[in-house]
Amino acid sequence: MKEYHIDNKFKSSWKKKILSWYFVNKRDLPWRNKENQNFYRIWISEVMLQQTKVTTVIPFFKKFIKKWPTLDDFFNAKLEEILKLWEGLGYYKRAQNLFRAKELLRKKKINISSHSLKKLPGIGEYISCSISAILKDEACAVIDGNIRRILSRVFDLNMNNKKFNSQIKEIATQLTPKNNNGTYCQSLMDLANLICRPKNPKCIICPISFLCKSNGKEIKKKKKQQIPIKLTVAFVVRFENYFLIEKTKENLLQNLFTFPLSEFRKVEEKDSKDFLIKSVSSWMNKYDIKTTYAYVGEVTHKFSHFHLKVLIVKIILPCKLYFNNFEWLTLKKLNQKPVSSMMMKIKNKVK
Ligand code: ADE
Repeated sequence: MKEYHIDNKFKSSWKKKILSWYFVNKRDLPWRNKENQNFYRIWISEVMLQQTKVTTVIPFFKKFIKKWPTLDDFFNAKLEEILKLWEGLGYYKRAQNLFRAKELLRKKKINISSHSLKKLPGIGEYISCSISAILKDEACAVIDGNIRRILSRVFDLNMNNKKFNSQIKEIATQLTPKNNNGTYCQSLMDLANLICRPKNPKCIICPISFLCKSNGKEIKKKKKQQIPIKLTVAFVVRFENYFLIEKTKENLLQNLFTFPLSEFRKVEEKDSKDFLIKSVSSWMNKYDIKTTYAYVGEVTHKFSHFHLKVLIVKIILPCKLYFNNFEWLTLKKLNQKPVSSMMMKIKNKVK
């Protein structure tokens, strides 16, 4: 049953006000240029923009389309090259999914519609709708965190309500215009970014403040959940100019090159020393390393669902041992491989 019924008068002034505001205030973003209005380039931009700020994305987007200007060029890309370009952008799973998706697209063309695009790895509800709206003007409800914020303010929704997501979907669907959805959804993105910002929204100059129930009021924030802290040990193992490196299978950093890491574990602060000693001795036993080690320090890295504290130990080997799952690389060679920002932080610490 419908909880909301938005009347035509509201819908019409909503659309009119938002589009005319956009006409004047539209951000000049590279993926909005005429030459970028094709599936391949909009796909890359939307994947990069998911979870990442516009200002961070711009140089990566430009670099990407310079290296692979068309989908045909991208068909030749190797996973390692994509990961190298993605270095520092985070959420590396996105790069893996781009690789998997282009391998599928190489074999089979796909229609640009919200329904078909969802079949590709890494394309969910939001990206399939935004691409289809932007390129085909498909009238599907485009809902990301920004648009959710605008709607929850305008309709004074409580994010802690169990029905929150279904309320947003219902409202967004009713407000989605039959024509011009591509321009409309991008207008909302800019409005969210320039006016209806998470902190200090600029309600005074907002074109839809007269339609908004929370005009100027503090947004009812979702109860902040405590972000867990996990620990791991990074083993910086050196022989002469060579470092022991693994291509990690760890889900969040899959296929990136790292110093060997112990498992990620939630550990109480008071037990961290114990965790370090146990992890080091079990790792060194496993690989039959008999030398001593030195504790170098720690770095912290933020993942979306937890913070990782990396305890760094250095081991200098007198001879080059061989291991199945690791390779020996000089720093120069390592610099040519894709690594995460976390690995860069560790590298800087041991320099
Ligand atoms: N965030 C997600 N998609 C976007 C787009 N096309 N323009 C600006 N911000 C966005």
